[in-house]
Amino acid sequence: MASARSSRTLRLALRQASAPRVQQRTFISAVNSASRPAVKQAAVSSFVQQARGVKTVDFAGDKEKVYERDDWPRDKLLEYFKNDTLALIGYGSQGHGQGLNLRDNGLNVIVGVRKNGASWKEAEQDGWVAGTNLFDIDEAIGKGTIIMNLLSDAAQSETWPHIKPMLTKGKTLYFSHGFSPVFKAQTGVEVPKDIDVILVAPKGSGRTVRTLFREGRGINSSFAVFQDVTGKADEKAQALGVAIGSGYLYKTTFEKEVHSDLYGERGCLMGGIHGMFLAQYEVLRENGHSPSEAFNETVEEATQSLYPLIGQNGMDYMYAACSTTARRGAIDWSKKFKDTLKPVFEELYDSVKTGKETQRTMEYAGRKDYREAFEKEMEEIREMEIWRAGKAVRSLRPENA
Ligand SMILES: NC(=O)c1ccc[n+]([C@@H]2O[C@H](COP(=O)([O-])OP(=O)(O)OC[C@H]3O[C@@H](n4cnc5c(N)ncnc54)[C@H](OP(=O)(O)O)[C@@H]3O)[C@@H](O)[C@H]2O)c1
Repeated sequence: MASARSSRTLRLALRQASAPRVQQRTFISAVNSASRPAVKQAAVSSFVQQARGVKTVDFAGDKEKVYERDDWPRDKLLEYFKNDTLALIGYGSQGHGQGLNLRDNGLNVIVGVRKNGASWKEAEQDGWVAGTNLFDIDEAIGKGTIIMNLLSDAAQSETWPHIKPMLTKGKTLYFSHGFSPVFKAQTGVEVPKDIDVILVAPKGSGRTVRTLFREGRGINSSFAVFQDVTGKADEKAQALGVAIGSGYLYKTTFEKEVHSDLYGERGCLMGGIHGMFLAQYEVLRENGHSPSEAFNETVEEATQSLYPLIGQNGMDYMYAACSTTARRGAIDWSKKFKDTLKPVFEELYDSVKTGKETQRTMEYAGRKDYREAFEKEMEEIREMEIWRAGKAVRSLRPENA
C-alpha cells in the first residue's frame, strides 16, 4: 500500500522507534548504589526524593493519579514488608515473572506449587529450593502472610474449597486478575470477610514482567482493592505492584479490571484482530491474489511496519507517514468498519459483564481433555493457509534468512 517514499519514511521512523532508550533508574541500580560510598548515597537519596512518583496525569481530559516505582524505593519496600512472607501460589507465566522479581528485590518470598508437577520442576530450575523457599501449596499458605494466588483462573476455583479455610485473619489475599472473586457465582470464590483482598494485574505476559524488570524498565499494571479490613489495603497493593516489577500503576476496581481484560483479549488484542486478518486474507485469495501477497498485505506489513508506528506515536502519525492515497482510503473506510463492528463489541461486552464468557471459560477449563482440545485448536490454526504462508514469509526476514 505505501509508496516507496513513504516506505522510506516508515523505515526511518521504525529505526528511531526501536532505538534503545536511556536506561531509567531501577531497583537493580538501587541495589548497586547501596554499596557506594556515603556521599554518593546522599546524592541518590535526593534523586529519589525529587523523582517521587505519584502524579496526576491528564488522560484526554480525565485526570487520574498514577503511581510509579520511585514512590517505593527498595529500602522502603524492605521496611514495609519486613514482617511478611509472600507466599506465591502457582508458578506459571506470572508466578515466574513476579516471583523472580520479588526475589531480586530482596523480599521474603516463597513458592507453593503441586509437588513434582511441571511448575515444581520449573521453579527448581529457576533456583527455588525445596524446603527452603519452595513448598507444596498447603505448606506455603501456612507460612505466608500475603498469599499471592497465581494459579490458573480455573484452578483458583477448583482449589478454593481446600484453600479458603487456610486464609485466616491477619493474612492478605492477592490476585492478578479479578476473575475469581468478581464472578463468584460461577467460580465459587467467596473471600473470607476478615482479610484484605487486593489485586495487581500486569498488562502483559509474566515473561514480559520479568524481561522489562531485567532491562531496568517496568510493566504497566493496574491495582485494586476488593476488601480493606486493615485500612492498609490500598498502599499494600501499590507496594506489591512495585515489588513485583511494575513501572506504573493505575488504580481500578476488581470488576473494571476483569471486564476490560476479558473484553480486550477477545476483541482488539486477539480474537477481533485474528477475525479481521482472516476475513481480509480470504477475500484477497478469493480474488486471485497469491498466498504471499495476501499475507504480506494483511499481516506482515501490519505487524512489521504500521502497528509499531501506532504504538510509538499514535494513529495520526501513522496516517501522516503513509501515502496520500493510502491515507484517504483508510480514513474513509475506518468509519464503516467502526459502525459495522460496534454492535459486535457491544455484544461482546455484554457477554463479559453477564458472566457468559466466564461460564464458557469454566466449562472449557473444567473438561478433563482441555489441554488436548486446546492443542487440537492450535493445530488447526497452525495449518490454516494464512499462517502457513506466514511461516514462509517470516523465514525470509533478514534475521531468519
Ligand atoms: N499469563 C498472563 O499473561 C497473565 C497476565 C495478567 C494476569 N494473569 C493472571 O495471573 C494468574 C496466573 O496466570 P498464569 O498465566 O501465570 O498461570 P497459568 O499458566 O494459568 O497457571 C499455572 C499454574 O496453575 C497451577 N495449576 C493448574 N491447575 C492446578 C490445580 N488443579 N491444582 C493446583 N495447581 C494447579 C499450575 O501448576 P502445575 O504446573 O502443577 O500444573 C501452574 O503453577 C491468573 O489469574 C491470570 O488470569 C495472567
